[in-house]
Amino acid sequence: CQQCDQSSDIARFDCYPENDATQEKCLARNCCWRQPFENRNQREKHFSAFHDINVPYCYYPKDFPTYKLQTNEQTEFGQRLRINKSETTYMPHDITDLTVDLIYETEHRFRIRIYDTIYKRYEVPLEVPVITKKANQTDYDVKINSNPFSLLITRKSTGVTLFDSSVSPLIFADQFIKFSTRLSSPYVYGLGEHRQALLIDLTEKWKKLTFWSRDFPPVENTNLYGVHPFHINPEFNRDNSTNFHGQFFLNSNAMDIDLQPLPALTYTTIGGIIDLYIFTGPTIQNVIEQYWDIIGKPIMPPFWSLGFHLCRYGYNSIENMLATVKRMDDANFPYDVQWTDIDAMSSYLDFTYDEKNFHGLPDFVRNLQANGKHYVNIIDPGISSVQSPGSYLPYEEGLRKNIFMKKFNSTELILGKVWPGITAFPDFTNPNATDWWTNISSIFHDIVPFDGMWIDMNEPSSFIDGSSDGCTMNNLDNPPFIPNVLGGSLSSKTLCPSAQQYLSQHYNLHSMFGYFEAKVSNAALKTIRKKRPFVLSRSSFAGSGKFTAHWTGDNRATFDDMYFSIPAILNFNMFGITHVGADICGFGLETTEELCTRWMQLGAFYPFMRNHNDLGQKDQDPGSFSYAAQQSMKQALLMRYSLVPFWYTRHYEAAMLSRTIIQPLFFEYPNDRNTYNIDQQFLIGRALLVSPNLKTETTSINAYIPSDVWYEFPSGIRVEKVGTFINLDAPLSKINVHVRGGFIIPMQIPGDNLIIGRGNPFTLLVVQSQWGNANGNLFWDDGDSIDSIETKTYNYLEFSLMNGTTLRIDALVTNYQDRPMRLELVKILGVNKTVTNVNINGKSYTNFLYNIFDQILLIYGLELDMLTQSIQTI
Ligand code: GLC
Repeated sequence: CQQCDQSSDIARFDCYPENDATQEKCLARNCCWRQPFENRNQREKHFSAFHDINVPYCYYPKDFPTYKLQTNEQTEFGQRLRINKSETTYMPHDITDLTVDLIYETEHRFRIRIYDTIYKRYEVPLEVPVITKKANQTDYDVKINSNPFSLLITRKSTGVTLFDSSVSPLIFADQFIKFSTRLSSPYVYGLGEHRQALLIDLTEKWKKLTFWSRDFPPVENTNLYGVHPFHINPEFNRDNSTNFHGQFFLNSNAMDIDLQPLPALTYTTIGGIIDLYIFTGPTIQNVIEQYWDIIGKPIMPPFWSLGFHLCRYGYNSIENMLATVKRMDDANFPYDVQWTDIDAMSSYLDFTYDEKNFHGLPDFVRNLQANGKHYVNIIDPGISSVQSPGSYLPYEEGLRKNIFMKKFNSTELILGKVWPGITAFPDFTNPNATDWWTNISSIFHDIVPFDGMWIDMNEPSSFIDGSSDGCTMNNLDNPPFIPNVLGGSLSSKTLCPSAQQYLSQHYNLHSMFGYFEAKVSNAALKTIRKKRPFVLSRSSFAGSGKFTAHWTGDNRATFDDMYFSIPAILNFNMFGITHVGADICGFGLETTEELCTRWMQLGAFYPFMRNHNDLGQKDQDPGSFSYAAQQSMKQALLMRYSLVPFWYTRHYEAAMLSRTIIQPLFFEYPNDRNTYNIDQQFLIGRALLVSPNLKTETTSINAYIPSDVWYEFPSGIRVEKVGTFINLDAPLSKINVHVRGGFIIPMQIPGDNLIIGRGNPFTLLVVQSQWGNANGNLFWDDGDSIDSIETKTYNYLEFSLMNGTTLRIDALVTNYQDRPMRLELVKILGVNKTVTNVNINGKSYTNFLYNIFDQILLIYGLELDMLTQSIQTI
């Protein structure tokens, strides 16, 4: 008899997620069919925000057939279990004999692998650490329940449940794998790429998130460009402390993740194996570090790429682009990188330029470069397959190297349609693709010496569903279950899942297309330019941050879109793609001067700052607006440029120490619950708090200032009220930024661009904590070498202020000596005793100003080489 009794709706696990659930179909699956207990009207009120998710009518009974433990063998890495089941379930090709590897990888990292005992299945081709020996000690406990089989993982110190799969039955069929776990709290962060608020709050809420890379202007509740099945879950302890753990589902097949208020999470994937990592933190930074140990740390970007980037689709001619550049120069905006989109290509063909409308592009680029600027162009993966023979090398070379994707079980190419018309698609998992891509890029580079590669449309996007010949009728193109993907079909606006790639079927690799393209493009750039590569990719997968930066795709010029860019960049930082931004001023729709001003101010604090818009929209480069708007934008740009040494050091810490560059407030204030839901403000590193104005026609904002010492940047005025929401003046001319006590921010006098400004003097902003201490650091190298970190050809300095009186500069590594690093100015905030004397290296120094009212000490006119003089006393 079925055990259908359930004390509450929230413990139901959906047995019929498809849209056509009926009682009959539900019962045919041996599941329970019942109206939810809750009053329906009440429920509708709660769930109205969610398009089609509700308490399931059809749910698993407690005794739904599942696996039993057969054997449990101790191994070097932990345990190897055999589990099996005697009854099959409702999905075709149930796999009845499974192996479960429990790998105690480190003290804080546990890995569960569940796979077919007999046949090898597809596994995600991500290079993850291979651990063969069990960790000596762990901060988690693992319990195995044998019948029905389930796993329970708890934190030793608190007993809190981190993972508990007993809540619903494990199902493992060839194209349908489903399992659930209880969550420690209803608060979830991560699970991208989706357009959503930072906090996924499951209190009384059900939510479905779908993963299958997809080209679509971001809206809520759809799968988007990238796939990152990683989440963080806080554990709220009885003593009011908070721990964090994370979970990463290493699976690249189309999947749904269902979240429900129990709280619980369900994975439903249609291929691969179960390969699940649990990271036990316990701090949020530990979780990130532990995750990045698996997927890889972010790339160190070239220095120039931290500057302002300007782009648009539809300059349409070099004259228009030149006019934009001139506007930038005439108005003296700091700016570093000029981009071109597909309108600069000849007939939208990759690796060409329009010699008529963009006549002189090569000279234009060389001229930019001669002035310290850089140039990036767009490359789409679709390679035109219909050019006349002998006229288009990228295609013909690709054919010769046999690197294009094929139809199922065939040697024929699968063709789709992108900007240039019918195209073939490179298979970047094919080892020969790197040579081919490098070669054709290099030939083009000899003509137009680009500095970076913008790889777009790499979900991969195609304007026709499947292929020019449709798709097959096989199981890959028509799986028995389709996650809730946009368009209802896996081939919607992309290639047939049955297409054949070198490593496996597109069915398995689809969401990694952008990952492999970024990997190959990164390698190509290294070979061609022999410098640190800059790649910007729209599609991404876990680990893409090792190769590429990311932008959030085709947003629109609305205040709402501007807001959603903040949770997006926060999430991508957690996903290890730290160099990230959104199209500033909006891609689609016409921007306004007000919105664009606000967005340029906010964008000045994105890690990747690019203004970009769509064909047919009016110009939105800073120089196209009124004088007043230009001044506000310029001020934000100057703030960014002056902070570049601080930014660059954050990138170094991301690449070396697994630190996020942009982070939500709760990362730094985990015991302050007010911060858990804040995603209209964010921190850069640990020290700068950015609070943009995201509402039209308002001149003040309500911002949260955590309980700490904070000063307004750059004025240095102390914030009196902290630990609460306060109103801040936010007229159109201003973005609110605050600096945190306890930190030293290295800054530099901005130049016209980052290359010109590199030799400019540095300044230090020293912000005292309530105890009069502060610390900071600075990483500095030539900004462009591939291996400056490996070969230690850099400088690394630490700054510290003790007792409000002694500032030390410790140049710990000084191997980059091309240019002196001159310190010109030190500004110390929070100096509450009158300063009458300043000593530098024991000698009295008179160029200082002390403002008793604002408690600011300025020491100016310094000419200190920070590399050779290591101790300064003030
Ligand atoms: C895609 C990109 C967009 C680009 C356009 C034309 O929509 O996301 O940034 O401008 O294609 O290439």
